[in-house]
Formats: sequence, structure tokens, C-alpha cells
Amino acid sequence: MHLPKAELHLHIEGTLEPELAFALAERNGVTLPYASTEELRAAYEFDDLQSFLDLYYALMAVLRTEEDFAELADAYLARAAAQGVRHAEIFFDPQAHTARGVPIGTVIEGLGRALERSEESHGVSTRLILCFLRDLSAESALGTLDAARPYLHRISAVGLDSAEVGHPPAKFREVYEAATALGLRKVAHAGEEGPPEYIREALDVLGVERIDHGLRCMEDPELVARLVADRVPLTLCPLSNVRLRTVDRLADHPLPAMLAAGLHCTVNSDDPAYFGGYAGDNFDAVREALALGPEQLRTLARNSFEAAFLDDDEERRARYLAEVEAYTFD
Ligand code: HPA
Ligand code: ZN
Repeated sequence: MHLPKAELHLHIEGTLEPELAFALAERNGVTLPYASTEELRAAYEFDDLQSFLDLYYALMAVLRTEEDFAELADAYLARAAAQGVRHAEIFFDPQAHTARGVPIGTVIEGLGRALERSEESHGVSTRLILCFLRDLSAESALGTLDAARPYLHRISAVGLDSAEVGHPPAKFREVYEAATALGLRKVAHAGEEGPPEYIREALDVLGVERIDHGLRCMEDPELVARLVADRVPLTLCPLSNVRLRTVDRLADHPLPAMLAAGLHCTVNSDDPAYFGGYAGDNFDAVREALALGPEQLRTLARNSFEAAFLDDDEERRARYLAEVEAYTFD
């Protein structure tokens, strides 16, 4: 669907399509344990978040140079633009690269190169969000933020991702305090596989401004009331939830109930190369499976721009919001 929208939950490493993975493997002399793109695609059957993460981290072996990161981001921005994305706030996982010997500067400068020409090339404005891997230590997160200091002009916010259960937000209190002191915005994954309590902790202990996923808030009516009252944006990823078996079928997704409850929902793609679709595909899928009408879809798009980190460019936000209101559904 070409409805203008902001994408607020997108892991750039999760946009690595099999074709690009093989091309980069060849260029960098990396051997993938798959014979072909078809064989690789056939491995995209996941039981849960961890089974996905195992493949997600393994395939990153092909990303080595600034040019690799620039190509990855440029390919994503082209696809996103073709599906109506006007603004993208992009996660990246520096520790997954530094652990393989790729310097953080290579990652950030490579992504930055694609992002700085994105408006001109694709008509998409961008922000970059540095994510900490929550299954690594708090010390590692602090070291990563420190290593990112020379590149902070390219970074708008910090986030928290990877294996959720057993790694509550409070573990990262100190690094989020340090990020605040550096003037960075804050988000965190919470309530994807983890309990509603992790959503509370992300708000109360880390001071996040948006919750990534947040699906499991629906188990806790008091928490829902708080999220509604405070207008906390939730960056939902419906196709991801089906592929990682957080919900059985898209038709069972709680999005309509969440909208009806007054939650500030947005629809995003998470790891589109792995989960069967980009932002517009996610909109198409929920429209179809959940019978969302034009005004619900327009609300989701409006919510995405309202939740975007565009406080330094309110004119642009207003322009995007006007595009949403002017859109006519077919
Ligand atoms: N959840 C947590 N961590 C992730 C995800 C996700 O959906 N995708 C990439 N890292
Ligand atoms: Zn995610």
C-alpha cells in the first residue's frame, strides 16, 4: 500500500535479502552454508525469536566494508520508498559487527553514506537508532556507546533488541542514563516475547519514549490504560509476529483491539527480508486479514508520523501529516 507512512521499527540487518547476501559473500570471500538463494530462503522457518536471531546473526558474516553497509541501506530505502515510506528510523546492531572484527566506524559511516543521500535518491528522510544487544552485558553496552561517541552526529536515539526473555530492561539503566546525558532519544523492544512488566520497566527505569512491539501489554489492562493516557507509541510488526509465532495467524492479531482501546499503534516491518514483507506489505496484510477500513489505516499512518523523532523538523512532520490526510484509498 502506498499510503504515506513512517517506518519506526526496522532492523537494517534484517533487510539483507538472499540475493544481496550471496553477492556480498562472493565479493568478500565468505562461504555461506547454503548452496543457493532458494536454499537460503527455504531456511526462513522460525519457531520463535531465538531461532530467527541465530540465522540473522549468522548471515551478517557477509557485511564487512563501508560499501557493504551503504549498499544494504540503499537497497532498503529504495524498497521502502516504493511502498510509501516517507520517513524511516533505522535500527542497527553495532555489537553484532564489532564482535566479528568490523569497526563501529565502518558500520556507521557506511550506513550514514546511504542515509545522507536518501532524500535525494529516494525521497525518504531518515534517522539512525543504535541498538544494544540485551543478551550481552551492560558493560558491553556502555563500551559500545563510548565507541560510538565520534559518530553521534549521525545517531538520534538508542534502542534495545535481541533475545528478550531473561534480559529485563533494568539491566541497561546505566547506559540509558548515559545516552540521555548525550542528548539521545530512547526506545526499547519490550513485550514481544517478554512479559508486560518489561514494558513498565522500559518506561520507568529506562525512560523510553516509544515501545517496540509492546504486544503483550494486552495482558495487563492497567498498563493499557497507562499507555493510552500517556500516548506512548507502540511500533507493532504484524508479519514478524506471525513468523516468530507470537500470534498463530494474522487474523488473530490484536491490532484491531489495540486500536479500539485507544493505543497509539503503528505498523512496521521489523526484519522484512526474513518475515515476508516491507512496510507497505504489512499494511496490505493487516488490511486484508483484519478487515481494517480506510480510517483505521489512515490513523496508523498518522500515528507513525506523530511518533517519529521529527521534533527538530516540525514543518516536515506537518507536510507528511498533510500527505496522509490527502491520500485517497483505492
Ligand atoms: N526482536 C528482537 N530483536 C531483534 C528483532 C526482533 O524482532 N529483530 C532483530 N533483532
Ligand atoms: Zn525488532
